[in-house]
Amino acid sequence: AALAGGCPVSANAAAFDPFGSAYQTDPAESLRWSRDEEPVFYSPELGYWVVTRYEDVKAVFRDNILFSPAIALEKITPVSAEATATLARYDYAMARTLVNEDEPAHMPRRRALMDPFTPKELAHHEAMVRRLTREYVDRFVESGKADLVDEMLWEVPLTVALHFLGVPEEDMATMRKYSIAHTVNTWGRPAPEEQVAVAEAVGRFWQYAGTVLEKMRQDPSGHGWMPYGIRKQREMPDVVTDSYLHSMMMAGIVAAHETTANASANAFKLLLENRAVWEEICADPSLIPNAVEECLRHSGSVAAWRRVATADTRIGDVDIPAGAKLLVVNASANHDERHFERPDEFDIRRPNSSDHLTFGYGSHQCMGKNLARMEMQIFLEELTTRLPHMELVPDQEFTYLPNTSFRGPDHVWVQWDPQANPERTDP
Ligand code: HEM
Repeated sequence: AALAGGCPVSANAAAFDPFGSAYQTDPAESLRWSRDEEPVFYSPELGYWVVTRYEDVKAVFRDNILFSPAIALEKITPVSAEATATLARYDYAMARTLVNEDEPAHMPRRRALMDPFTPKELAHHEAMVRRLTREYVDRFVESGKADLVDEMLWEVPLTVALHFLGVPEEDMATMRKYSIAHTVNTWGRPAPEEQVAVAEAVGRFWQYAGTVLEKMRQDPSGHGWMPYGIRKQREMPDVVTDSYLHSMMMAGIVAAHETTANASANAFKLLLENRAVWEEICADPSLIPNAVEECLRHSGSVAAWRRVATADTRIGDVDIPAGAKLLVVNASANHDERHFERPDEFDIRRPNSSDHLTFGYGSHQCMGKNLARMEMQIFLEELTTRLPHMELVPDQEFTYLPNTSFRGPDHVWVQWDPQANPERTDP
């Protein structure tokens, strides 16, 4: 066996390819061998140590000093000099936000910016989320066929994200392209000829974020997390810095948008593939909150996250050198039979569904988790009421954007008989 960091690399470890079809189709299944035989392994393909068991993944998330999140937004695939030059032309300077910030800077910033995420503040957004959801469903409810992703699940979370951040609604079509480019730029493996185009889009996204931020600075009295951040900056300029605000303007859209859009697309696919469960939640909407949690566990939208070891240490019984980069596979942890009974079964009455690690864990745990949950619950409430008879278009092939971390089908086609819409007979 080859040697890497002093550790022999097994055949399975050498073959691990997070851009290959097995991981892209089902990341948890593709790492079953690892959970069973080699729960921490070095991937020479990636240059990362891969952590796959529930307890180990949770332990890594729990200690953000020993396992720093500094590399969470680093490009996983090194890019060409030309792409780097393109980014430089746009003065691209994505820096620390919250998710990749170390202590002692992180916690004071997180605390300073937490208020807009409290249940009391989130309640203000509920009517907006429901109104938007209904508007989008109105557009296709009579048509008999729809791609839930293109016709609803992509744009509603994007619009909610923009509202939440306090961004004006224009430029939405362009934003869609930009944010995808950010995902490919950060977590994907773009071919050399694609890299410059991706860099162009990321550069424009960065500049757009700066322009919007400038607009907000003119009048930061508005609702939304970014104006709130600008006001906090006046009180605590060392905690909420300029660099932070610009980076967060861009990263915040992705954090709030794609994660939620993908999680929702995964949830509808999973529920409709399990018809009996779909019918149960149609009959009893009180099952929806735990169904959402179980969807996040079974088919979460963040498959893997990253940390870097700041000192020599051990995970399980594997020695990890200082400086080692870790790919912690949340999707694998969520299917670990050592923590979840019959983990591959989709069980909306599972008592510990919410133990899933899809939102991370510990001091960096997702701040937007309750906003995401609210959106997913409303999507399910509206569609189980208005289109309980919809079904997946048979034999469709689900495709995924190749990347290590963000996971959801590109399209989810559904069909139904509009004559049988409940609102026709009982408006
Ligand atoms: C952090 C997942 C929705 C804002 C994170 C992390 C994950 C994650 C894995 C890193 C956690 C860690 O390092 O322990 C998700 C998923 C979502 C979602 C799966 C949807 C289903 C949202 C939304 C927002 C948001 C709607 C709203 C703005 C944030 C922020 C952080 C974060 C600000 C950084 C927190 C910190 O480092 O202190 N999220 N997220 N997320 N998320 Fe989310």
